[in-house]
Amino acid sequence: MLLEVDHISKTFDNGTRALREVSFSVAEGEFVSVIGPSGAGKTTLFRILNGSAPSDSGAIRVGGVALETASARARRAVQKTIGTIYQDFALVENSSCRQNVLNACLPEMGLLASLFGLFGKERQKEAERLLGEVGLAEKAEEPVKNLSGGQKQRVAIARALMRRPALLLADEPVASLDPVTGRQILELLREIRRETGLTILMNSHNLSLSRAFSTRLIGLRRGEVVFDGRADTPEEEVLAAVYGEGEEGKA
Ligand SMILES: Nc1ncnc2c1ncn2[C@@H]1O[C@H](COP(=O)(O)OP(=O)(O)OP(=O)(O)O)[C@@H](O)[C@H]1O
Ligand SMILES: [Mg+2]
Repeated sequence: MLLEVDHISKTFDNGTRALREVSFSVAEGEFVSVIGPSGAGKTTLFRILNGSAPSDSGAIRVGGVALETASARARRAVQKTIGTIYQDFALVENSSCRQNVLNACLPEMGLLASLFGLFGKERQKEAERLLGEVGLAEKAEEPVKNLSGGQKQRVAIARALMRRPALLLADEPVASLDPVTGRQILELLREIRRETGLTILMNSHNLSLSRAFSTRLIGLRRGEVVFDGRADTPEEEVLAAVYGEGEEGKA
C-alpha cells in the first residue's frame, strides 16, 4: 500500500472533533475521492497527510514508513513525495509561470542558490517540460496574475509534479472553476495518472465528478469514515451513507 491511514483522530483547541479514528489505505495508482459535507474533516485530513498539521493520535504510513516514529530526515524525504494542489491555487501571482513551477525546488536547495534563484539547467528544463505537459508552454514567461483560473490550476499541477510526487493530494481542485474547465483539469489529472502511475487523493463536493474521474470513493461525515467503496457504486447508496437524510448533508 502506498498510503495507510490508521485510526487518525484530531480535536481542535476549541473542542471541535474534526476526525474520529479515520482509517483507510490507498494502493499505488488509485484515484480516490474523499467526499462529504462541509465541515466533515476533509481539509483537516489532507493537512495532516501533507504534514501541515499534527494529528492527536493514530498512524500514517507512506510507502511503509511510519511518519510519527520516523526520523526528521526520513519524514522530510517522505513529505517530499507528497504534492498538494488547492482550490485557490496558492501561487505567487506576480511571478511567472516558470518561476512558480521552479519554486517547488526551493526547499531542497541551499540558501545561496535559493536566494539568487540559481535553479540550474536541469530544473529549468524540467519546469519547461512540465509546463508543456499541462498545455502552457507558451505562458512560461507570463505572470500568473494574467492567467485564467483553469490555467492557474495547471501551473499548480506542474509545480506539484516538479518534485516527482508519488502521491498527489488535491483539495477541491476544481471548486473555483466553471464546470467545463473543471472537467478539463480532472481529465488532465487522469491523463497524468495514466502516463506516470501517480496516485491521486482528491477532496470534492461534487459527487458526479468524483464518480466520473476516480476509481474509489471514501465518504467522511462528522469526521468519520462512513463509506469506502468503488466509484461505480450506485449513487443512491453513496448519498444515503455520506449525506443521509435531512439538511446537514446538502452543503
Ligand atoms: N484551525 C481550526 N481550529 C478550529 N476548528 C477548525 C480548524 N480547522 C477546521 N476546524 C473545524 O474542523 C471541522 C472540519 O473542518 P474541515 O476544514 O476539515 O472541513 P471540510 O470537510 O474540508 O469542509 P469544506 O467542505 O467546507 O471545505 C469543521 O467543523 C471546522 O470548523
Ligand atoms: Mg475543505
